[in-house]
Amino acid sequence: MTNNLNNMKELFDSLLSQIDKLVGTSMPTSEKLQAVCDVLHDNVIHYDWVGFYIVDKNNKRELVLGPFAGAPTEHVRIPFGKGICGQAAETREVFVVPDVAKETNYLACSLNVKSEIVVPILNSGELVGELDIDSHKPEAFATEDTEFLRKVVDIVGRLI
Ligand code: SME
Repeated sequence: MTNNLNNMKELFDSLLSQIDKLVGTSMPTSEKLQAVCDVLHDNVIHYDWVGFYIVDKNNKRELVLGPFAGAPTEHVRIPFGKGICGQAAETREVFVVPDVAKETNYLACSLNVKSEIVVPILNSGELVGELDIDSHKPEAFATEDTEFLRKVVDIVGRLI
């Protein structure tokens, strides 16, 4: 177990440095966000769907799907308050769902999804978007994931 945790820490540290580097390149923002999704999806075994929802500039109470890695989703626009993403938009707090089957206010993307984490992205105190990750594994997200993903959105928040 300790070994696993050390391995995860090493992986997360290495991914943070990759993400920090790619955010500093001259790629367009949408390509950077796509690359962040790909890095997370391709390297963390329990991250089965990774995507950004961005606050709509014309309707500040709606999230619009941005770059993502994983299966396409029908949930391309999510009003604040709806689903896990919409609830996290209202509270601006990280929302970890160990078992999506127990949530009544939940928007299903695929029956394979068992757990989910949504990390709000703030820029100068304002909600600008969210990082949403689904897992096919129940209770996939530990404190280490939350800490890691908070650092990811701190880096990414500068872009949005
Ligand atoms: N499950 C989310 C919807 C987005 S998908 O996970 C990609 C929710 O309940 O808000």
